[in-house]
Amino acid sequence: MENFVMYNPVKLHFGKGVAENAGKSALKYGSKALLVYGKGSVKHSGAYDDTVKSLKEAGVKVVEYSGIKSNPVIEDADKAAELGRKENVDMIVAVGGGSVIDCAKVISVAIPYEKPAWNLVSGAEKPQSAIPLLSVLTLAATGTEMNANAVIQSDKLLKKVGFKNNLMFPKHSFLDPSYTTTVPADYTAYGVVDLVAHALEAFFGKGDSTLTDKFIFSIIKEAFEYGPELMEDLENYKLREKVMFAATCALNGMTVWGKQGQDWGVHAIGHVLSVIYDIPHGASLSVVYPAWLKLFKDRIPERVGELGLGLFDDSNASNLINNLENYFSKIRAAVRLSQLKIDITDKKEKDRIIEVMTDNKVSGFNYEMTREDYSVLLDLMA
Ligand code: NZQ
Ligand code: ZN
Repeated sequence: MENFVMYNPVKLHFGKGVAENAGKSALKYGSKALLVYGKGSVKHSGAYDDTVKSLKEAGVKVVEYSGIKSNPVIEDADKAAELGRKENVDMIVAVGGGSVIDCAKVISVAIPYEKPAWNLVSGAEKPQSAIPLLSVLTLAATGTEMNANAVIQSDKLLKKVGFKNNLMFPKHSFLDPSYTTTVPADYTAYGVVDLVAHALEAFFGKGDSTLTDKFIFSIIKEAFEYGPELMEDLENYKLREKVMFAATCALNGMTVWGKQGQDWGVHAIGHVLSVIYDIPHGASLSVVYPAWLKLFKDRIPERVGELGLGLFDDSNASNLINNLENYFSKIRAAVRLSQLKIDITDKKEKDRIIEVMTDNKVSGFNYEMTREDYSVLLDLMA
């Protein structure tokens, strides 16, 4: 095993009705909140009404910033931070999926920073402080509700960047699976893909921790068992509950205990596809993972074999890849770029993607990828 530190300060509230406590929890941080949300789903899921009611009942005033887009952009973080400073808010309450919560994390460090947030995201400068953040999650996928990561993009620079700082751990996160019953089939599937991908990125991280590998297999098997059932019964609370819990566990630290973090190579490629084509995060991952495994199965045969054994009781790499592709297809997630309407038989298009991959320095932390690998991978994804 690698040496490691377990640290997760998020107070997680899980279950039906938990957002009713948002106001009481918020009061500890002050009396004025910047409420951040997306394009309006929160008003159909019930999350907005419940959260605002709870904040108001506790006497917390609310200023709103809405319209955060899926695959959030840095301009929103800067504008919302400006509003937060002008209104002198004491805290941020984010209501939504990963995009809203990630953007809110960036806002939380951008408010006291008072300069363009991209300086922090790009690593040019380090945040020194943050406004407290509370989150009310409406989509099971990213695990952002219980981690210190934010992913945000600059369309101008064609860069989508993952950024981590302990200041960005939410103070409280409220997870009521009933809000997720309104998530449509496509984003439900992408969420399930994302949680599987997070567990796989951890499996391919550096370090040998057999107990942690077993946590990883359990999380993925939960998605194998209940993901397809959920796709046939989207309003089923019990299934939503299982998937929501699995998604949180897939990226809250427990999958890297005894390891040196995740590999993140597949995510790095997915981010490039999202920044160029604005495709949903999970949709990129179900295409990239099988291709990545096809490339790496001969480079790291033992590790790929262990994954096959752990998930399907079969160490054969080709069977593992087939099983994974069949699973993604079963939950109606794309497994080829052509299904996402990305045509890399057009050489100009392929070269463009390779350029952006190069510019984004796409690689894994554990398993490196070269420019030649990009080309092979894209052909495997076609
Ligand atoms: O904008 P609204 O109207 O809220 O609609 C959203 C959006 O269109 C909708 N939605 C959310 N909750 C809903 C709902 N629709 C109906 N009912 C509900 N209850 O779903 C759409 C997608 O939402 P989004 O937040 O973009 O999805 P997700 O949670 O998958 O987040 C994706 C973002 O998170 C990043 C991704 O890169 C991407 O930018 N990630 C963040 C990570 C982290 N912070 O740890 C790790 C991940 O690997 C990932 O990179
Ligand atoms: Zn992800």
